[in-house]
Amino acid sequence: MKKIVVMTSGEGSNFSAIVNSGIVVDRVITNNASANVVKRAATANVPCEVFDKKTGDQEHGIGWSERRINETIPEDTDLIVLAGYCSILSPHFCEAWTGKLINIHPSILPAFAGTMHAIKEAWDYGCKVFGVTIHHVIAEVDAGAIIMQRCIHPLEGDTLEQLTAKIHTVEHYAYPSAIRKILQIPEVK
Ligand code: GRF
Repeated sequence: MKKIVVMTSGEGSNFSAIVNSGIVVDRVITNNASANVVKRAATANVPCEVFDKKTGDQEHGIGWSERRINETIPEDTDLIVLAGYCSILSPHFCEAWTGKLINIHPSILPAFAGTMHAIKEAWDYGCKVFGVTIHHVIAEVDAGAIIMQRCIHPLEGDTLEQLTAKIHTVEHYAYPSAIRKILQIPEVK
């Protein structure tokens, strides 16, 4: 059985999509104690560890929570899946997990890299095609090798909210599919 860790800071809808697709997630790591993913993990019966960035760093200095996270992730982990993890990981962490660390970003990279508001920025720019990118993580933000991309063409009259929902739905299919491809986990019939 492949060992998969999901790291996320917020809602956790991608985590749920991965679990609901039948992929076994070993643990969730979050740096936000009030993230909704904490509840989602409990519902899915997946252990969730919280390394709250704010309190951790205040008490122990910058890098403390990341060091603790690194100690927590089992060495034989096959894949660390970032899904809305709102902290930049250090070059040391990225290098330690090269090839086993992936991220999803709601744009067609390299467009709208390095922003937490990629969909809104693409919308404001007047883009006619939107999308998601699943990529390897390197120290440079949103710059690792691309694993999978999916395009979304908004319908005439779509609002930003409707488009955002469509993009998230595409993420929820693409991420499990990319994880299966990387780890050679067969699709469930
Ligand atoms: C997703 O849109 C993902 O592309 C971005 O952060 C969001 C996380 O959403 N990196 P959720 O927490 O999985 O619902």
